[in-house]
Amino acid sequence: MPITALVTGANRGLGLEWVRQLIDEVDQLYATCRAPAEADELRAFTETHRDTVDVLGLDVTDDAAIDDVVDRVRREQGALHLLVNNAGISGGATSDCFGNVDAETMTEVLRVNAVGPHLMTQAFADLLAAGADERGTATVVNVTSQLGSIERTSGGGWHSYKASKAALNMGTRLQATELKGDDVIVVAMHPGWVRTDMGGANARLSTEESVTGMLEVLYDLQLSHSGQFLAYDGDELPW
Ligand SMILES: NC(=O)c1ccc[n+]([C@@H]2O[C@H](COP(=O)([O-])OP(=O)(O)OC[C@H]3O[C@@H](n4cnc5c(N)ncnc54)[C@H](OP(=O)(O)O)[C@@H]3O)[C@@H](O)[C@H]2O)c1
Repeated sequence: MPITALVTGANRGLGLEWVRQLIDEVDQLYATCRAPAEADELRAFTETHRDTVDVLGLDVTDDAAIDDVVDRVRREQGALHLLVNNAGISGGATSDCFGNVDAETMTEVLRVNAVGPHLMTQAFADLLAAGADERGTATVVNVTSQLGSIERTSGGGWHSYKASKAALNMGTRLQATELKGDDVIVVAMHPGWVRTDMGGANARLSTEESVTGMLEVLYDLQLSHSGQFLAYDGDELPW
């Protein structure tokens, strides 16, 4: 039974590492990003793994683009087994602090980090259900952050980002509830603090360590885990 996976924001950082590690695990990998023509590292995989990897343009804020990608997967595979909603933005990061939050930034961060993943899962729901029919379960990983934990709310910046990841966490619970009857597992996963453009050079983990951990967690997931908020090392995080 061929395994089909799709990753958003696959051109750099954690998304690129998801592709690197999934490439030999799945039969068909749709690696999506906003600007395929500029995604040199990602497109290199289409040379080495011609039969496995397709690079598709997808901005997760573009509803029509989401529909196009769904149509493509439907036409070519008829099912999806793994959806990694990885794309995300930090907004103003540390400068996005109380007294300095602006509507445009906050709206954009919510749109990319929370609305985009929710619409992606919604649009792929029937293909995920078809994937679960084929393999027992299908899985959605919403790449969140522990900064979205309401219980662990701290001061400082990242206001829009924290609010967006809290919204993504709620989206995860909603998606899990809606899709449980179709045997689709939905989890929110915190990748750790990772050395990427977003995480910065001083972060604790390499992208390889983070994604290796997330994949180990993912391979052990069962339907009973759906709706959980997990870290890359399998720890359950407080909402
Ligand atoms: N790094 C960390 O320490 C850390 C910690 C916790 C959570 N996370 C989460 O992990 C995920 C990946 O982060 P990262 O560290 O790899 O960040 P990154 O290096 O900044 O990469 C972000 C990715 O998201 C893409 N993206 C941004 N807006 C998009 C849109 N509208 N549509 C489609 N793609 C879009 C970017 O594409 P472009 O190149 O086109 O901009 C890029 O591929 C994010 O959800 C982030 O919140 C990261």
